[in-house]
Amino acid sequence: MALFSFFAGWISYLLICLLGLIFIAFLCFCLYIKYIHLKYDHIPGPPRDSFLFGHLPTIQREMSNDRVIHDKFLEWAETYGPVYRINGMHAVMLCVTCPDTTKEVLMSPKYPKGKYSVVLLLHRFFGNGLVTAQNHEEWYKQRRIMDPAFSSLYLRGQMGAFNERAEKLMDKLADMADTNTAANMQHMFNCVTLDVITKVTVTSCYPQIPTLPLQFILSVIKLHLFVYLTLYPKNKKFINEVKKSCQLLRSTGRQWINERKMAVQNGEDVPKDILTQILKTAGKANDDEELMLDNFVTFFIAGQETTANQLAFAVMELGRLPEILTKVRQEVDDVLGMKQEINFDDLGKMTYLSHVLKETLRLYPTAPGTSRFIPNNIVINGIPIPAGVTCVFNSYVCGRLDKFFEDPLKFDPERFHPDAAKPYYCYYPFSLGPRSCLGQSFAQMEAKVVMAKLLQRFDFSLLPGQSFDILDTGSLRPKSGVVCNIRHRGQTPAA
Ligand code: HEM
Repeated sequence: MALFSFFAGWISYLLICLLGLIFIAFLCFCLYIKYIHLKYDHIPGPPRDSFLFGHLPTIQREMSNDRVIHDKFLEWAETYGPVYRINGMHAVMLCVTCPDTTKEVLMSPKYPKGKYSVVLLLHRFFGNGLVTAQNHEEWYKQRRIMDPAFSSLYLRGQMGAFNERAEKLMDKLADMADTNTAANMQHMFNCVTLDVITKVTVTSCYPQIPTLPLQFILSVIKLHLFVYLTLYPKNKKFINEVKKSCQLLRSTGRQWINERKMAVQNGEDVPKDILTQILKTAGKANDDEELMLDNFVTFFIAGQETTANQLAFAVMELGRLPEILTKVRQEVDDVLGMKQEINFDDLGKMTYLSHVLKETLRLYPTAPGTSRFIPNNIVINGIPIPAGVTCVFNSYVCGRLDKFFEDPLKFDPERFHPDAAKPYYCYYPFSLGPRSCLGQSFAQMEAKVVMAKLLQRFDFSLLPGQSFDILDTGSLRPKSGVVCNIRHRGQTPAA
């Protein structure tokens, strides 16, 4: 008994000490937050929801109400100007729309990328791949190796793959037109872009990648902070599905990389495709296998949904703007006529189609933002900014500010006519500078081939009663899925 009370006494004493320590740590953390507030509160910004959580409750509220969080950022940009502050506990994020700062920061290698989720649900996902690598030297080495697979010369050689995969989509649409089946265009575009990136990544052996709910993955990148904070039991099924998808994508990648490695070791002639370039990003270290997988995953995610969603938004806008549809279709007819195979020179001639695709990304930038860490003191729009913050550059916000684009909600491809004033560091759907999108030309060639074939072959009309809302799952996509009735326009073009 005496022994029991002795131990009980000690345990209570230790518990009190532990609670005291936790309380002191919490107090220190609060003091640190206060210090951060004092340091950055001269920068304008919306009132905080709370001392501790800053603006996080508003952000979480907006996201859980199925609203587009970027609309809140836009509203704040209109109210608080070219630079405003958002707090989340001890972290400060500056939302910047000032073109001069956008130019200075994004165009310079001096400012490293803001921290991303390199681990998704405790599993390595993007890791240190191209999109997420923070160390400049590590990133630069990978980028130099990957560049040849995206050079203009190499991409010209991929026109066959773009045509072939787009034809597969046209066949499916033709079946749907024959059977009067409504087409969910976002789904159809997701299939074609997955098909293209698979074909272009592993040109020789072309195994079918397992169909993955890839679109879930990005939403979890956005959500997982909150999932961890709140541990909603209702998210469990969804989270498990995403975990499985991530593991499946990485294990498929591992298998393909190993097969290609064996082929190289056996002296076989391997194509100079994205997979071969990915192999070159690795050195001898064990961790380099993981780096190859990081890049494999990066290309599949970066190269698929973004383009598919751009195409779906373009169809959504063309479906409700008959004049623009007629004009762009006329251009496609003039350039292609009844020809089936689109060549590289044809793409250059379809300039109005380029303007339509650019305007689509102004209103619906499918990868809406990027961030940079600011390691030194700078001045933004006359406001001194102490070092140590992250600046966020949001192309959704810039694209919809009327100080940059007159009547911003109007879909008007003429904004990108060569005679129109060029947007000055306020239009950057592919980001800008050294860390800009490596797949920009790839994506726009692919989008043009698919769109041109669609316009050449089919009439489409949006099903009535669809909402034109945007779903914000990290990458923006049309909420309705853009469901269309498809009809043949006339004769099928000859090969
Ligand atoms: C409409 C389609 C696309 C859009 C809007 C888009 C947009 C972007 C943006 C905004 C970034 C910068 C991300 C950041 O700073 O965090 C980026 C980076 C990147 N994108 Fe794309 N992208 C598209 C298609 C593609 C495609 C098709 C590929 C590859 C096949 C690709 C590969 C990459 C890579 C590798 C990076 C990282 C570049 C680096 O940091 O060096 N993207 N993209």
